[in-house]
Amino acid sequence: MQLTVTSPNEKTKIDLEKVIREVENIPTIPESLIQILRVLDDSESGASDLARAVRLDAPLMSQILRLANSPYYSHQGNLSDINRCVAVLGYRTVRQMALGVSVATSLVSAVANTAGRLDYRELWRHSVVVGAMAKELAFMVGFHDPEQVFTAGLLHDIGKFILEIQFAERYDRLVEARSHVGCPLTEMEREEFGFDHADIGEAFGRIWYLPQVITRSLGSHHDEPTTQSNGDSPDRAMALVKLADYLANTMVPSRSDLGFDPRHVNPQALQVEAGIRIHELEENLSSLRDAVDLASDYLNLG
Ligand SMILES: [Fe+2]
Ligand SMILES: [Fe+2]
Repeated sequence: MQLTVTSPNEKTKIDLEKVIREVENIPTIPESLIQILRVLDDSESGASDLARAVRLDAPLMSQILRLANSPYYSHQGNLSDINRCVAVLGYRTVRQMALGVSVATSLVSAVANTAGRLDYRELWRHSVVVGAMAKELAFMVGFHDPEQVFTAGLLHDIGKFILEIQFAERYDRLVEARSHVGCPLTEMEREEFGFDHADIGEAFGRIWYLPQVITRSLGSHHDEPTTQSNGDSPDRAMALVKLADYLANTMVPSRSDLGFDPRHVNPQALQVEAGIRIHELEENLSSLRDAVDLASDYLNLG
């Protein structure tokens, strides 16, 4: 597979395939995720195929059941198996939950085992907030698959986890230096590594065969906003994640510096790109906050 990413600001070709060959500590794709992705790809597959895939991995199954019974998803409780979850929550919801939980737990447990100092729990908290807000924005604009936007938001910064897993010392130093320098984190990442967390997140998204909507959000969530996106395209999902990232950073600021600097973001342009009017957003601020509170069950994965 040839992976060449054009970095939007520097317009340089980055040979990520070479970078990925050189990295050693990245967790391999879990067998259960391979099976889940196979189910996702197959339009003929259904609840029993998903249940079979998830049963391969007992910790994953118990996480899914716990989340399905959490206030964020369930209004009925007592969901004790995957088939029942699908019947109550819908197939789309449960398969996205399986995908997000499988990828997230692999990365969070890998980063926990590094000697790095990056506040990965705070990064995970930020990820959950972005997922919840992105899903709420997706509902707001009538996007066809809000659950997929949730997963894209939840995973949008996996490139940061990967940089911390692979280059803990260098990445910690860089994140610390950024707060004094005042230039965008992505720019500093490109200077240090030759690519940024969005580039490497997208590359691993492709290597792990994540759906296109998700890899698009991984790779482009720091790109300059372009024209308004409409409908149900991957670009629309990405624009929703981008706006959610801004809202998460401003409404629920991180307790430690994760590299956000409002001076480098134009919120009006993000709203235009996502196809959301300012008054729609203002009217829905409380539901955005509620969604974040309810999604807090996801924090336990970190
Ligand atoms: Fe990011
Ligand atoms: Fe982010």
